[in-house]
Amino acid sequence: MAVIKKKKKKVSARRQQVRDSIATERFTKMAAAINSPYPIAILILLIFISGVLLILGLDTGRNDFYVNGLITFKLWPQLLSLAAVVTLISGGAALYIHHYQPRIIHKPTRMIALATLYLLLLLITRVFSLFPDWGYFAIGTASACAISLTIAYNQRFAIGMSLFYVLLACFAVDTKDAFEGPDPIASVEIMLTMTAAVMAYCYSLGEIRTRSKLIEVSIFATIIVFITSAALGILQGLEWKDYCLHAGFAALATFVVGIFIQAFLPIIEQAFGIATSMTLLDYSDANQPLLKKLAMDAPGTFSHSLLIGSIAENAAEAIGANGLLCRVGAYYHDIGKINKPPYFVENQMGSASRHEQLSPAMSQLVIVGHVKDGVEIAKEYGLPAVLRQFIETHHGTTLMEYFYHEAKKKADDKQTVSESEFRYPGPKPKSKEAAIIMLSDAVESAARSLADHTPAKVETLVHTIAMKRLQDGQFDECDLTLRELSRIEMSLSKSLAAHHHGRIAYPKSDAKPKTNGNGTSNGNINKNGNNNSTGNGGTDNEPQQPVSEKKDSTFQPIQQENTNP
Ligand SMILES: [Fe+2]
Ligand SMILES: [Fe+2]
Repeated sequence: MAVIKKKKKKVSARRQQVRDSIATERFTKMAAAINSPYPIAILILLIFISGVLLILGLDTGRNDFYVNGLITFKLWPQLLSLAAVVTLISGGAALYIHHYQPRIIHKPTRMIALATLYLLLLLITRVFSLFPDWGYFAIGTASACAISLTIAYNQRFAIGMSLFYVLLACFAVDTKDAFEGPDPIASVEIMLTMTAAVMAYCYSLGEIRTRSKLIEVSIFATIIVFITSAALGILQGLEWKDYCLHAGFAALATFVVGIFIQAFLPIIEQAFGIATSMTLLDYSDANQPLLKKLAMDAPGTFSHSLLIGSIAENAAEAIGANGLLCRVGAYYHDIGKINKPPYFVENQMGSASRHEQLSPAMSQLVIVGHVKDGVEIAKEYGLPAVLRQFIETHHGTTLMEYFYHEAKKKADDKQTVSESEFRYPGPKPKSKEAAIIMLSDAVESAARSLADHTPAKVETLVHTIAMKRLQDGQFDECDLTLRELSRIEMSLSKSLAAHHHGRIAYPKSDAKPKTNGNGTSNGNINKNGNNNSTGNGGTDNEPQQPVSEKKDSTFQPIQQENTNP
């Protein structure tokens, strides 16, 4: 039998090349999909749906559960229908997160925190609904969801996500006793009352700057819930005693949760990696051990940080970003300098620079070290992650130009100096606030080298540095727009020009100054024991030497604005 050999089809080189490139592209796409956060996000979503089904699928009556200790589940057709509804609601919530808070998808810990919050609140609702008359606690859990999400994210996201919770919670409430509605689907009354509580809390909470804020908001939400519940009771045609009782229980649940959540604020902050304004204000206190240490060991850096805090706060408020976060972040951004204060220009106090005895490569290591040291110190002192980001990102991946050019000058013809060796390790700023601190830090340092602080010169300096950072790609990872950058520039220029304002020179007098026995010229000593008659620390009553006439011993060329040697 003749063996028929299958003729191998000849493929042209061009076609083979195209096939290879398609295969490579497919492989790259597959690798990207596997390495993307989506597989983990889908896994967490599936676990969440299973958890919700486990809680909502319970078909245990009160007597079965508490008296006989029985745990039974709904029948299969009911469970499947419930699974379909829960999957639809959870899928909707997942898409909402993907659209409005995509950073949650990129951080599994945040997804886990969110899923855990939902499951915990649903479980509490389900368990409480098994007690007679405790179904009202569902309004309390909806309030807890709204408060937690408003604190952790923002009002818009909190409203959307809390409404998804309300939909799920309706299936967790046993309405047989608490509400005159069909079981298991809760009546419209509980849904609307929960929605009223969610809206009242989300709209009125905003920022928590004072300890009484949550109490004020809780009182407001309680009134709204009482009115809603009473109005719905009247519409249902209930007796006035009944609807007053319903409304009273609903209002009580809303108020109690609002007060109780204050105790859980630190847990919420830690779970979602955020800091409320109240915590930020605590960290802005000059009595904080870390700030005290900075003021004692590196006074120049402390003063530099205070000034950055002030100008950055104004800039953040100009674009609607979090000004308080910027201010407090600025206070801690350079805490790494505590370890080696004399190596940074602001702490040299007129003495010779220590970098004169070091090679540029060595100096670069010392300077870069302040970022790494800062992160270590922040962890040691338990600084919140939201403040640590400013330490890590305030230099981004910028180039230490001064030392880079020094190294190039000192290098032989054969030696090549790599630019990447003289760049900070990063990361780049990931939020608008971090970008503002980066820019404020750079312009504040550079402004000190200006001999003349006229508004036009300060404005040019700020614009030049902002454009340099932009072209260097330092703002690539944060969602700062060009319009916002321009507003930040305007605010920084205004603040810096105001800070470095000039003074009218003293008229020269031939008369000898009177002394008071302490050796001071006018006896006007401030609380630190410094004589205020010099040009730097004068008050409004004490005209200073004009800025342009001052001899600045810390003069640095503009190119060094971020090296701070
Ligand atoms: Fe720094
Ligand atoms: Fe700095």
